[in-house]
Amino acid sequence: MRQQIAAANWKMNCTLQQAEELLNKLATVSDFNSVNRIVIVAVPAPYLLLAKQKLAHQTNMFVAAQNCFTKKSGAYTGEISAEMLQSMDINYVLIGHSERREYFNENNTMLAEKVNLALEYEVTPIFCCGESLSIREAGNQNEFVAQQLKDSLFQLSAAQIVKVVIAYEPIWAIGTGKTASSAQAQEMHQHIRKALEIQYGSNIADAVSVLYGGSVKGNNAVEIFSQPDVDGGLVGGASLVAEEFVAIMNALK
Ligand code: PGA
Repeated sequence: MRQQIAAANWKMNCTLQQAEELLNKLATVSDFNSVNRIVIVAVPAPYLLLAKQKLAHQTNMFVAAQNCFTKKSGAYTGEISAEMLQSMDINYVLIGHSERREYFNENNTMLAEKVNLALEYEVTPIFCCGESLSIREAGNQNEFVAQQLKDSLFQLSAAQIVKVVIAYEPIWAIGTGKTASSAQAQEMHQHIRKALEIQYGSNIADAVSVLYGGSVKGNNAVEIFSQPDVDGGLVGGASLVAEEFVAIMNALK
């Protein structure tokens, strides 16, 4: 059975003191039903080790980086390598978030390189995909997302793809308060799983967790997560409020 995942994406938020406060709250969560469910917290890079330390005793909570670079090492000032993450025992990394694609010109080819390197260093990529409003309005969202998967993930072997988490995040729903309806989410998640099935077969397609992201909140998570092909969420704004994120964790199937 594939894992159900509540992933927090703090983005570029929180001072050190605010990060500590939020992590302290997550560290004291004791009623999370962790059978087949995990929590991942993608914190800003300066807080990775702090987050690891604070959540060390929470066996089902993991820490993620929000990005890593396309090269192994070298003269790339300001970048973070997959090997560095591995050396810090960071188990997950967000790759291809729409904000990285838009503001830092990350394209599908670069993202394939990042995915390959993350896997080489045994860091699980949480690969983000999703269409803009204009693409959805033109009715081209399925082709668009399929192309993102093909260009950045389908170079992987079957043994590698099962180690990837996919997050479908329609750009028009991110930070806008406008979520996809649960039917729209299910439709796209089913489409993603079908693309995985065509490429890798149904056993592999069934094993990959596909998260929904875009204005997930404590009060809409149950409905979205109840869809058969939705395996949890990648949560931005609502993950900055501990009580809200805990409600989302508890909404997992
Ligand atoms: P949001 O962000 O929950 O604030 O819409 C989601 C994301 O960008 O991962």
